[in-house]
Amino acid sequence: MSQNPSLKSKHIVVVGASSGLGKALAEQLSKEGTALYLLSRSIESSDLEFEANKINCDVTDSESISNAFKKIDRLTSQIDVLVNCAGIGLVKGLEATTQEDIERIIATNLTGTLYTSQEGYKRMLEKKSGHIINVSSTSGLRARPDETIYCASKWGLRGFTESLRLAATPNKIRVTGIYPGGMQTNFWKGSEPKNLDAFMTPSDIAEQIVNVIKTPTSISPAEVVIERGL
Ligand SMILES: NC(=O)c1ccc[n+]([C@@H]2O[C@H](COP(=O)([O-])OP(=O)(O)OC[C@H]3O[C@@H](n4cnc5c(N)ncnc54)[C@H](OP(=O)(O)O)[C@@H]3O)[C@@H](O)[C@H]2O)c1
Repeated sequence: MSQNPSLKSKHIVVVGASSGLGKALAEQLSKEGTALYLLSRSIESSDLEFEANKINCDVTDSESISNAFKKIDRLTSQIDVLVNCAGIGLVKGLEATTQEDIERIIATNLTGTLYTSQEGYKRMLEKKSGHIINVSSTSGLRARPDETIYCASKWGLRGFTESLRLAATPNKIRVTGIYPGGMQTNFWKGSEPKNLDAFMTPSDIAEQIVNVIKTPTSISPAEVVIERGL
């Protein structure tokens, strides 16, 4: 069995690391001694209490993504893990949803993740090793009447993630979809659910992603669904 116990010598890219789940994950990985490459629109001006390479990147802009990965190339020739965490929510009836809303949600949650995955995958293919982890949502598994567009973006991401997993496996690259339920993050700003206090914390979910990264390379966790406990 191939072991993958230490993250100390790993180079990990986290997209969407300036707040919420991505930031909590980066904090935990920094404690493991991982070399971090953190991307988001505002990451370079964000206060992080740990060492990391911070690269501003807007995933709705393919040129910004391509430039961010070129900057990563100048820092390392090895991406061991890519975690796609950038995402935004929309709780709105379809009848009130604007074309701009639709374009923004799909560009951020779906198209953006396709492009960052493609950048990471091409580099991992050269090494025949790596792990791509895409953060979807339980809204990527279940229908929700007030989240038609958000669900469309996250269901689309599931189809992509599972298809990429099949393509990647023969090349010794692992692909995992993470499906968390509600978390207490900025994601809910402006549409806060009444029971937000009962939602999971981003660090709880981050811990599960660290566990997935640490699994032996001889297994491939395909989908991890994380529901709220008691
Ligand atoms: N919170 C929940 O209840 C929940 C539940 C299930 C799944 N999720 C998913 O979990 C992921 C993380 O969300 P979160 O809850 O941690 O929310 P969050 O605190 O709002 O974090 C979202 C992250 O995405 C980044 N981001 C947003 N738009 C971006 C863009 N155009 N380009 C680059 N980065 C961008 C943000 O950074 P900048 O603003 O600096 O760009 C931020 O770092 C998302 O994919 C979300 O769909 C959330």
